[in-house]
Amino acid sequence: MSKIVVNKNLPKNVINKNIYGHFSEHLGRCIYEGIYVGENSDIPNKNGMRTDVVEALKEIKVPVLRWPGGCFADEYHWKDGIGPKENRKRMVNTNWGGVVEDNSFGTHEFMELCDQLGCEPYINGNVGSGTVQEMSEWMEYMTFDGVSPMAEWRKQNGREQPWKVKYFGIGNENWGCGGNMRPEYYGDLFRRFGTFVRNYGDNKVFKIACGANIDDYEWTDGVMKVAGKFMDAITLHYYTHPLGWEIKGSALDFDRPVYDITLVKAQRMEELINGHLAVMDKYDPQHRVGLIVDEWGTWFSVEPGTNPGFLYQQNTMRDAMVAALHLDIFNKHSDRVIMTNIAQIVNVLQSVILTEGPKMIKTPTYYVYDLYKHHQDATLLDSHIVGDTFLHHGPLDIPTLTQSASVDDNGVTHITVSNLLSEESQKVDVQVLGCDLSKVKATILTGEVHAHNTFDDPDAVHTTDFTGFTVGGDTISAELPACSVVLYTIEG
Ligand code: AHR
Repeated sequence: MSKIVVNKNLPKNVINKNIYGHFSEHLGRCIYEGIYVGENSDIPNKNGMRTDVVEALKEIKVPVLRWPGGCFADEYHWKDGIGPKENRKRMVNTNWGGVVEDNSFGTHEFMELCDQLGCEPYINGNVGSGTVQEMSEWMEYMTFDGVSPMAEWRKQNGREQPWKVKYFGIGNENWGCGGNMRPEYYGDLFRRFGTFVRNYGDNKVFKIACGANIDDYEWTDGVMKVAGKFMDAITLHYYTHPLGWEIKGSALDFDRPVYDITLVKAQRMEELINGHLAVMDKYDPQHRVGLIVDEWGTWFSVEPGTNPGFLYQQNTMRDAMVAALHLDIFNKHSDRVIMTNIAQIVNVLQSVILTEGPKMIKTPTYYVYDLYKHHQDATLLDSHIVGDTFLHHGPLDIPTLTQSASVDDNGVTHITVSNLLSEESQKVDVQVLGCDLSKVKATILTGEVHAHNTFDDPDAVHTTDFTGFTVGGDTISAELPACSVVLYTIEG
């Protein structure tokens, strides 16, 4: 039996809803086909955006969406993606499959998408192959409310009112695909480019610096030292590759040891967050600068027969467990982690949605976001697991249980608890202090660890009501099935 203690009398910080953010890149079938099909498509759409995908994403309350990359961001020239579509310049997407990008999805289309989703845009600018002027003019084009060359151009292209753009990333992975830079050099470029990303009117830009890959603490150190004072946040990228970068392994075909290693690798996010925060503390002891994990998730081999440059992978209950584990870690660090963006929203890596022609499926990861949406902008509650619930196999510490809890503005408490064991059920008692447990409801996502939705069987995995719990005094007890995520909702 495992025990979790949640204390409603110990409220902590507000969990920034942007922790539940997403990422969309011009990569494979994420934007084109997955989201944007164009106004003339037979697939039902509004202004070119697939209605089925937009409706599904609205249900999970996507709070913020990052675009246009990723590696693509540092070779994207925004002026190629505005104006009449027939005149838009074509380019080679050198990072992702060498396909020709026709730029039919550009700034206006991205803002339309954010508008339909009701989410904030997070735009990633080009430092690697772009210019200071280009970046500066992009912000003027989007946000200047007055007479200026860029604002006039925007109006000619059909948008009278400026948009609001709060989140702006100055480069992506500039230690690698974004220019192979050294941290001090990038830090100087951040200062220079950032100077000309102007605030127009009441649009206040939140400037995001390119942070480290995995445990590259030297990068964080160098960039913070040079540019810490000039930024609002710095990023971190960490993907879960169970078998390492070279092999990756199949999304669908894996055994118990590989599953266990996947969890060990996913759990590493906690160590990395703590490590990078400690480096940031050296230069920002007041904790003014936020940490944004704007790329994370599972990265497996592509599905057989698909373009290796498109990073299309299926998504099983294993991915759901990885998502739950990460989101609980992010909730618990939400005093410093202010945004995260799972990679990527549709058809790429650990997606919440997959599409095939006119068909669409919600993945197990989608349902985790559906359960966890209640934590958005709620107040984190103190919670902990009593005792050691890790399995210790040689050098591996395999997590078996994860949880987080919050209370929303209406006083409703939400507790998410996951049994990460792939084959064994687990009796879990949740003691909830300071709460009346007369009105408890529960919802569950569970399935065999390989279970997944397909275009022929789109509903194999989904959430259902969970009644297999009892309440005694201040404790909710349940036998949690193997590989399950349970959301307890407590009114009062
Ligand atoms: O998400 C796929 C790629 O992973 C991104 O383009 C890049 O930033 C990272 O290496």
